Amino acid sequence: MTATIIVCRAAQRADAPAYRRYVAECGEAGLPLYQVAQFDPDGWLQSLLHHAEGHQLPTGYPPTTTYFALEKGEILGALRLRHGDNPAPRAWLGHIGYETRPSRRGEGVARTLLLWLQQHVLTSPVLISCDETNKASLKIIESANGQWLDRRYHAGDNCWVRFYRISPSGWRPA
Ligand SMILES: CC(C)(COP(=O)(O)OP(=O)(O)OC[C@H]1O[C@@H](n2cnc3c(N)ncnc32)[C@H](O)[C@@H]1OP(=O)(O)O)[C@@H](O)C(=O)NCCC(=O)NCCS
Repeated sequence: MTATIIVCRAAQRADAPAYRRYVAECGEAGLPLYQVAQFDPDGWLQSLLHHAEGHQLPTGYPPTTTYFALEKGEILGALRLRHGDNPAPRAWLGHIGYETRPSRRGEGVARTLLLWLQQHVLTSPVLISCDETNKASLKIIESANGQWLDRRYHAGDNCWVRFYRISPSGWRPA
C-alpha cells in the first residue's frame, strides 16, 4: 500500500481545473459556500486570490488567504486564514475556516492542514470558532492544542459556538 503524500500550500491560479472538481463535489454535498461557488468556480478562485491580497473583500472581512491540501495536484481540503484583528473574527467568525472534500474525510486531511499552518504560517495566536456539535472539528482543534476560551450563542446559525486560541508550533507567550 502506498502512503498518501499531502502537500499544503497557498491556492494558485493554476489550481483552477482541480478547484472546479473540488467545488463541484463540495457543492453537491451541500456545503453552502460551494453551492454559491459552483456557479463560477474559476471566478471564485480568482476572488480568493484577490482576497489574499486584501482586495474585493466582503464587508467586514479582513484579508484572507486560502490554503489547499493536495495529493498529486488534486485538492483534498481547503483552509481560510483571516489576517488581523477586526470585529468579525473576534465576535463570531474566528480567523480560521476549513473543510475536507466529502470523499476524503476521515483520512487526517484537516488535521494535516491545521498542523501545517501552525508549523509554517502562523506567527502569533489566532482564534478559531466551532459549532459545539461538530465532533470532528472539535477533535482537530483539540489535537492542535487549541486553548478553550468560551462558548457563545450564534443567533444566525442557531447554535452554540466554542471559541479556541490556536498558536504557532512551539509558541511561548512573552
Ligand atoms: C470537520 C472536517 C473538516 C473534518 O475533516 P477530516 O479531514 O475528515 O478530519 P480528520 O480526518 O483530520 O479527522 C480528525 C478527527 O475527527 C474524527 N472524525 C472525523 N469525522 C468524525 C465524525 N463525523 N464524528 C466524530 N469524529 C469524527 C477523526 O476520526 C479524527 O479523530 P482521530 O484522529 O481521533 O481518529 C470535515 O468533516 C468537514 O469538512 N466538515 C464540514 C465543514 C466543517 O465542519 N468545517 C469545520 C468548521 S469549524
